[in-house]
Amino acid sequence: MQCTWDDVEAHIAACACCPLGKTRHLPVMGRGSRQARLMLIAEAPGAEEDRQGIPFVGKSGEILDSLLQDCGMDRKEIYITNILKCHPPNNRDPKEEEKEACFPYLKYETFLLKPAIIVCLGRVAAQRIIAPDFKITRQHGAWIYRKNCALTATYHPSAILRDTSKYESAKKDFCEIVKKLHSCNGSDR
Ligand code: URA
Repeated sequence: MQCTWDDVEAHIAACACCPLGKTRHLPVMGRGSRQARLMLIAEAPGAEEDRQGIPFVGKSGEILDSLLQDCGMDRKEIYITNILKCHPPNNRDPKEEEKEACFPYLKYETFLLKPAIIVCLGRVAAQRIIAPDFKITRQHGAWIYRKNCALTATYHPSAILRDTSKYESAKKDFCEIVKKLHSCNGSDR
Protein backbone atom coordinates (compact mmCIF):
# COMPACT_ATOMS: atom_id res chain seq x y z
CA MET A 1 0.00 0.00 0.00
CA GLN A 2 1.14 3.54 -0.68
CA CYS A 3 1.54 5.71 2.33
CA THR A 4 -0.17 9.02 2.57
CA TRP A 5 -2.79 9.80 5.20
CA ASP A 6 -5.45 9.54 2.50
CA ASP A 7 -4.18 6.10 1.44
CA VAL A 8 -4.32 4.81 4.99
CA GLU A 9 -7.81 6.22 5.47
CA ALA A 10 -9.02 4.65 2.21
CA HIS A 11 -7.59 1.22 3.11
CA ILE A 12 -9.17 1.29 6.55
CA ALA A 13 -12.53 2.28 5.05
CA ALA A 14 -12.42 -0.70 2.67
CA CYS A 15 -10.75 -3.16 5.05
CA ALA A 16 -11.96 -6.76 5.16
CA CYS A 17 -8.86 -8.20 6.85
CA CYS A 18 -10.89 -9.51 9.80
CA PRO A 19 -14.60 -10.15 10.47
CA LEU A 20 -15.03 -6.85 12.37
CA GLY A 21 -15.14 -5.09 8.99
CA LYS A 22 -18.57 -6.70 8.52
CA THR A 23 -20.05 -5.99 11.97
CA ARG A 24 -18.84 -2.42 12.53
CA HIS A 25 -20.96 0.57 11.56
CA LEU A 26 -18.13 3.06 10.82
CA PRO A 27 -14.36 2.52 10.85
CA VAL A 28 -12.56 4.72 13.35
CA MET A 29 -9.22 6.02 12.13
CA GLY A 30 -7.02 8.20 14.33
CA ARG A 31 -7.96 11.85 14.72
CA GLY A 32 -6.22 15.02 15.75
CA SER A 33 -3.24 16.97 14.56
CA ARG A 34 -1.12 15.28 11.90
CA GLN A 35 1.74 17.50 13.07
CA ALA A 36 1.38 16.32 16.67
CA ARG A 37 4.43 15.11 18.61
CA LEU A 38 2.21 13.22 21.04
CA MET A 39 0.32 10.10 19.95
CA LEU A 40 -2.19 8.34 22.21
CA ILE A 41 -3.02 4.72 21.41
CA ALA A 42 -5.96 2.93 23.00
CA GLU A 43 -7.46 -0.46 22.27
CA ALA A 44 -10.58 -0.25 20.13
CA PRO A 45 -13.54 2.00 19.36
CA GLY A 46 -16.55 1.74 21.67
CA ALA A 47 -20.20 1.79 20.63
CA GLU A 48 -20.47 5.59 20.37
CA GLU A 49 -17.20 5.78 18.41
CA ASP A 50 -18.63 3.13 16.07
CA ARG A 51 -21.69 5.32 15.50
CA GLN A 52 -19.72 8.52 14.87
CA GLY A 53 -16.49 7.19 13.34
CA ILE A 54 -14.39 9.30 15.73
CA PRO A 55 -12.20 8.04 18.61
CA PHE A 56 -13.12 8.87 22.21
CA VAL A 57 -16.44 10.61 21.72
CA GLY A 58 -18.28 8.61 24.40
CA LYS A 59 -18.07 8.82 28.20
CA SER A 60 -14.43 7.76 28.23
CA GLY A 61 -13.72 10.64 25.84
CA GLU A 62 -15.04 13.05 28.48
CA ILE A 63 -12.55 11.62 30.98
CA LEU A 64 -9.74 11.88 28.45
CA ASP A 65 -10.59 15.52 27.67
CA SER A 66 -10.70 16.32 31.37
CA LEU A 67 -7.26 14.74 31.95
CA LEU A 68 -5.82 16.67 29.03
CA GLN A 69 -7.38 19.92 30.19
CA ASP A 70 -6.02 19.41 33.74
CA CYS A 71 -2.53 19.26 32.22
CA GLY A 72 -3.01 22.24 29.91
CA MET A 73 -3.55 20.27 26.70
CA ASP A 74 -6.33 20.01 24.17
CA ARG A 75 -7.09 17.00 21.98
CA LYS A 76 -6.71 19.18 18.87
CA GLU A 77 -2.97 19.40 19.61
CA ILE A 78 -2.42 15.65 19.74
CA TYR A 79 -3.16 12.54 17.68
CA ILE A 80 -5.45 9.85 19.13
CA THR A 81 -5.89 6.40 17.66
CA ASN A 82 -6.65 2.79 18.54
CA ILE A 83 -5.04 -0.57 17.82
CA LEU A 84 -8.29 -1.75 16.23
CA LYS A 85 -10.06 0.55 13.82
CA CYS A 86 -13.37 -1.33 14.16
CA HIS A 87 -15.61 -1.79 17.19
CA PRO A 88 -15.57 -5.30 18.71
CA PRO A 89 -19.15 -6.35 19.48
CA ASN A 90 -20.21 -5.89 23.12
CA ASN A 91 -16.93 -4.11 23.87
CA ARG A 92 -15.11 -7.41 24.28
CA ASP A 93 -11.30 -7.40 24.31
CA PRO A 94 -9.75 -7.44 20.83
CA LYS A 95 -8.75 -10.93 19.66
CA GLU A 96 -5.11 -11.63 18.79
CA GLU A 97 -5.93 -12.12 15.12
CA GLU A 98 -7.83 -8.80 15.02
CA LYS A 99 -4.88 -6.97 16.56
CA GLU A 100 -2.50 -8.56 14.07
CA ALA A 101 -4.77 -7.80 11.10
CA CYS A 102 -5.10 -4.14 12.13
CA PHE A 103 -1.53 -3.51 13.25
CA PRO A 104 -0.19 -2.41 9.84
CA TYR A 105 -2.56 0.59 9.94
CA LEU A 106 -1.13 1.68 13.26
CA LYS A 107 2.37 1.28 11.82
CA TYR A 108 1.48 3.52 8.89
CA GLU A 109 -0.07 6.12 11.20
CA THR A 110 3.09 6.07 13.34
CA PHE A 111 5.33 6.26 10.26
CA LEU A 112 3.43 9.30 8.93
CA LEU A 113 3.17 11.09 12.26
CA LYS A 114 6.68 10.36 13.63
CA PRO A 115 5.66 11.14 17.20
CA ALA A 116 8.22 12.06 19.84
CA ILE A 117 6.03 10.46 22.52
CA ILE A 118 3.62 7.52 22.39
CA VAL A 119 1.22 6.96 25.28
CA CYS A 120 -0.61 3.66 25.54
CA LEU A 121 -4.00 4.00 27.18
CA GLY A 122 -4.64 0.85 29.17
CA ARG A 123 -3.43 -2.72 29.39
CA VAL A 124 -4.36 -3.94 25.90
CA ALA A 125 -2.42 -1.20 24.12
CA ALA A 126 0.53 -1.35 26.54
CA GLN A 127 0.83 -5.13 26.18
CA ARG A 128 0.76 -4.92 22.39
CA ILE A 129 3.11 -1.97 22.07
CA ILE A 130 5.43 -1.88 25.09
CA ALA A 131 5.70 -5.45 26.44
CA PRO A 132 3.41 -8.51 26.46
CA ASP A 133 3.69 -8.81 30.24
CA PHE A 134 3.11 -5.10 30.95
CA LYS A 135 1.28 -4.55 34.26
CA ILE A 136 -0.60 -1.28 34.06
CA THR A 137 -1.11 -0.92 37.83
CA ARG A 138 2.59 -1.35 38.58
CA GLN A 139 4.21 0.13 35.47
CA HIS A 140 2.03 3.06 34.42
CA GLY A 141 4.05 6.25 34.15
CA ALA A 142 7.36 4.42 33.49
CA TRP A 143 9.26 5.38 30.32
CA ILE A 144 11.02 3.32 27.71
CA TYR A 145 12.84 4.60 24.64
CA ARG A 146 12.84 3.25 21.09
CA LYS A 147 14.68 5.02 18.28
CA ASN A 148 13.58 8.66 18.53
CA CYS A 149 10.46 7.94 20.54
CA ALA A 150 9.67 7.85 24.26
CA LEU A 151 6.89 5.46 25.25
CA THR A 152 4.78 5.20 28.36
CA ALA A 153 1.36 3.96 29.45
CA THR A 154 -1.37 5.14 31.76
CA TYR A 155 -4.82 3.99 32.76
CA HIS A 156 -7.49 3.70 30.09
CA PRO A 157 -10.23 6.33 30.64
CA SER A 158 -12.82 3.50 30.88
CA ALA A 159 -10.86 2.03 33.79
CA ILE A 160 -11.09 5.46 35.45
CA LEU A 161 -14.86 5.48 34.84
CA ARG A 162 -15.07 2.15 36.68
CA ASP A 163 -12.75 3.27 39.49
CA THR A 164 -12.51 7.03 39.87
CA SER A 165 -9.66 6.74 42.39
CA LYS A 166 -7.38 6.10 39.37
CA TYR A 167 -8.02 9.63 38.04
CA GLU A 168 -5.31 11.30 40.15
CA SER A 169 -2.65 8.75 39.11
CA ALA A 170 -3.56 9.20 35.44
CA LYS A 171 -3.48 12.98 35.84
CA LYS A 172 0.01 12.76 37.36
CA ASP A 173 1.12 10.58 34.42
CA PHE A 174 -0.35 13.04 31.92
CA CYS A 175 1.32 16.03 33.57
CA GLU A 176 4.69 14.22 33.30
CA ILE A 177 3.93 13.44 29.66
CA VAL A 178 3.22 17.12 28.94
CA LYS A 179 6.44 18.13 30.72
CA LYS A 180 8.41 15.65 28.61
CA LEU A 181 6.68 16.89 25.48
CA HIS A 182 7.78 20.47 26.22
CA SER A 183 11.33 19.30 26.92
CA CYS A 184 11.66 17.44 23.59
CA ASN A 185 9.66 19.86 21.43
CA GLY A 186 11.34 20.43 18.12
CA SER A 187 14.52 18.63 19.17
CA ASP A 188 14.35 15.38 17.24
CA ARG A 189 12.30 15.60 14.11
N1 URA B 1 -12.17 3.22 24.12
C1 URA B 1 -11.09 3.03 23.31
O1 URA B 1 -10.21 2.21 23.61
N2 URA B 1 -11.02 3.76 22.21
C2 URA B 1 -11.93 4.66 21.86
O2 URA B 1 -11.78 5.28 20.83
C3 URA B 1 -13.02 4.83 22.73
C4 URA B 1 -13.12 4.10 23.84
